[in-house]
Amino acid sequence: MDTKIAVVTGGNRGIGLEICRQLGRLGIQVILTARSVGRGTAAAGALQAEGLPVHFHPLDVADQMAVRRLAKTLADDYGRTDILVNNAAVYLDPGLSIAEMDLALVRQTMETNFYGPLRLCQIIAPLMRRNSYGRIVNLSSQMGSLRHMGAGALAYRVSKTALNALTRVLAAELRGNNILVNSVDPGWVRTEMGGDHAPRSVEEGAETAVWLATLPDGGPTGSFFRDRRPVEW
Ligand SMILES: NC(=O)c1ccc[n+]([C@@H]2O[C@H](COP(=O)([O-])OP(=O)(O)OC[C@H]3O[C@@H](n4cnc5c(N)ncnc54)[C@H](OP(=O)(O)O)[C@@H]3O)[C@@H](O)[C@H]2O)c1
Repeated sequence: MDTKIAVVTGGNRGIGLEICRQLGRLGIQVILTARSVGRGTAAAGALQAEGLPVHFHPLDVADQMAVRRLAKTLADDYGRTDILVNNAAVYLDPGLSIAEMDLALVRQTMETNFYGPLRLCQIIAPLMRRNSYGRIVNLSSQMGSLRHMGAGALAYRVSKTALNALTRVLAAELRGNNILVNSVDPGWVRTEMGGDHAPRSVEEGAETAVWLATLPDGGPTGSFFRDRRPVEW
């Protein structure tokens, strides 16, 4: 069987880095992307030193030209992409109420957390279609769940609700092509975003995303998971 190729965004630290590590340990060729060349090269180098098949490619998901450059590399150098993990995100408005919210901050959050994954899906889904194989995993959050919606952090919440809608629409559009598209809530994880007091390790935070990235044919699509179980939108 051909080696699978996975693209992970925001792979230089936190949950993204751990997803790269776990995918690499499964023998998957990982393209670790990051917006900083220095941080991305260092992260990929650390995983290579662990003996893992990881390449670095620079990618700011908010930069349309950078996404186009990645598309060209994927087509020219690899000819395929089997797995896309939309992990990169920002959380710019913790504790802010709607009254305090600067619209620029909402736009900035959407640019990375929603338009970023949308751009990646637009370039990678066609490559997946060609091979009748694909697994797309969108790193979402319970904070984007309408069922659990609470006060504060509107920008981050809405960006994840929109990401969940992307999961549903894309899954429906790709149904029947063996391309499975799902959202995952990693739980509250000890990273720069989650902080030191979060109860989960990055290993635990990455686990369900990696499971979704490697689902067998006929697996679920268009769903939202936490700890490998479906959760409410
Ligand atoms: N941690 C939690 O408790 C938690 C809970 C629920 C959901 N999540 C979700 O899980 C995912 C990973 O979170 P995390 O905790 O690992 O976050 P993190 O530690 O803050 O890492 C975020 C990653 O995204 C990258 N990034 C931000 N903007 C980018 C851009 N424009 N282009 C490319 N990369 C960009 C960062 O790169 P730089 O190093 O260059 O900044 C970093 O690599 C996110 O989608 C987050 O929303 C996390």
